[in-house]
Amino acid sequence: AAIKNYHFDIQVKNVSRLCHAKPIVTVNGRFPGPTIYVREGDRVLINVTNHAQYNMSIHWHGLKQYRNGWADGPAYITQCPIQTGNSYTYDFNVTGQRGTLWWHAHILWLRATVHGAFVIMPKPGTPFPFPQPHQEFELLFGEWWHADVEDVVKQGTNMGLPPNMSDAHTINGKPGPLFPCSEKHTFAIEVESGKTYLLRIINAALNDELFFAIAGHNMTVVEVDAVYTKPFSTQAILIAPGQTTNVLVQANQVPGRYFMAARPYMDAPLSIDNKTAAGILQYKGIPNTFLPTLPQLPAPNDTEFALSYNKKLRSLNTPRYPAKVPLKVDRNLFYTVGFGKNSCPTCLNGTKLLASLNNISFVMPQVALLQAHHFNIKGVYRVDFPDRPPTPFNYTGAPLTANLGTATGTRIGKIAFNSTVELVLQDTNLLTVESHPFHLHGYNFFVVGTGIGNFDPAKDPAKYNLVDPVERNTVGVPTGGWTAIRFRADNPGVWFLHCHLELHTGWGLKTAFVVEDGPGADQSVLPPPKDLPPC
Ligand code: C2O
Repeated sequence: AAIKNYHFDIQVKNVSRLCHAKPIVTVNGRFPGPTIYVREGDRVLINVTNHAQYNMSIHWHGLKQYRNGWADGPAYITQCPIQTGNSYTYDFNVTGQRGTLWWHAHILWLRATVHGAFVIMPKPGTPFPFPQPHQEFELLFGEWWHADVEDVVKQGTNMGLPPNMSDAHTINGKPGPLFPCSEKHTFAIEVESGKTYLLRIINAALNDELFFAIAGHNMTVVEVDAVYTKPFSTQAILIAPGQTTNVLVQANQVPGRYFMAARPYMDAPLSIDNKTAAGILQYKGIPNTFLPTLPQLPAPNDTEFALSYNKKLRSLNTPRYPAKVPLKVDRNLFYTVGFGKNSCPTCLNGTKLLASLNNISFVMPQVALLQAHHFNIKGVYRVDFPDRPPTPFNYTGAPLTANLGTATGTRIGKIAFNSTVELVLQDTNLLTVESHPFHLHGYNFFVVGTGIGNFDPAKDPAKYNLVDPVERNTVGVPTGGWTAIRFRADNPGVWFLHCHLELHTGWGLKTAFVVEDGPGADQSVLPPPKDLPPC
C-alpha cells in the first residue's frame, strides 16, 4: 500500500461552452476536475484549499470511510464547509473496494462543475475478473448551465418553482456537435480494430438520469458503483446521477467514426429535457471528415427498458467476490418518497414545494451532525425519524390531498451497530410520480427487490433476490414503484441518505442515520482530524 497525495485548489475560472463564457468554480482550474487514481489498500490525502468566494466541501462518492465520517464530506452532515482562504485535508484509506467511483462538491449545487473520477485499481497482481482491456477511458456525464448555478438554486428552492433546465448535457465537460457552437468541444476516443476497451462511466449530472449508447457497438456491463457484476451485453445503459458503470467495448465494427450519445430518461410528466450529448468513437486512421452515425437510444419515456435493464444487474457473486446479503433483518424501515406543500408568504401562489421522506422534509443544521453526535452537542438534530409513514395510504393510487401536509425538521434515525437493516423506498403520487436515485453514504447496499405500484409486505419479500442482488451505493426508486435495499450497519457514524437529483435534495428529500458505536475498541468513530473545519 502507498500514500497518495493530492492538492485540490478550489479556484474560479472563466470557461466557455456553446459560445458563452462564464466564471465557474473548478479544482485546479480544470473542468471536469482531475482524476484520483489509487490502488486498493492505499491511504489517500487530499489537501483542499479554497480560493473561491463560496464555501466548499468535497465528497468521495461511494468510498465507505470506515469509522471515518470526518473524510466523507457532505456539508453540515459530517463537517462544516471549508471557508474561503482555508484548507482541509481529507485523509482516508481505500479498503476493500476497487473500481470506478467519483468525487464532487457536496454543498449547494457546486457539484455542477466541481467533480471528477475516482479510480481504484485492484491490488497489484490481482487481475480484473473480465478480459484485460487494451486501454481505458473515463466518461463523465454532466450538465452545462449558462446561468449562474447559484441563481438557478435560488430560483428553485426559494420560489418553489422548478429552475431553468441546463443548457446542455456534456461528456467530460463537452456538449458535442449536436449543440450549437460546440464542434470544438467534442469528446473523442481513438480505438484500434480488434481491441477491447474499458469505459468508466460516471453520471455527474445534477438532475438527469441518462441513457447512453454507442452507434454500432454493444457494451458489456462488468461493474457498477465499484462492485463487479455478472457480465451482460447491452445496446444501451441507464445511469442515474451518482451512479457509475464500467463497460467493455470491442472495436469490432467496420472502421469508421461512431457517435456515443447520452440523453435523459424522462419519466416525470413535467420534464421535457431531450438534449443529447454526443462524443465520438473513432477508429485509428479514419479521417475526421468521415461522417459519424448516431446510436439508437431508448425512447425518453422507455420505462420498460429501464426496468429490464436494472433487472439484468446482478452481483458477480464468486468465491472471491461474494455477495454477503443479509438474510435476516433486525430493523425494517419503510420510507415514502413524495412531494408536498408548505405555506410561503414570499413565494409565488403563497406555497412552497417541498420534497419529503415519510412526509418529513429535512432541514439542514448549522452544526455538522457528526460533530454534534461525537461531541454530544444538544439541540442540533432529533433522533425521531419514523420507521414508517404516519398513516399508510394508497401510495400510488388516486392522489390524496390529505397526505400533502409536510413537516419540516432536522430529524434522523438511529441504528444499532452491526444490525441488519431493510429499507423500502416507496415512490408516491403526491403531486407527481418520478424516479428518484437514492444514495446512502458510508455503505454499499444490496438491491433485493423492486416493483411497480405499492409495496406489499405480505407478498413482495417472498420474491426478493437474496442470492446475487446487485450491490451499489445509489439506486433508482422507480416511478410509481418501490425498491427494497438491505445492508449491515457495521460502519459507525452519521451517514447521509438522499435523492441524488439536486433539485429534490434542495427541496428536502434527505435524512441521515446515526449508526451507533460498536462495543469493540476498533468499532467506534475515530477522533476527528485537527484541521476539521470549524462550524
Ligand atoms: Cu454523490 Cu451525498 O452524494
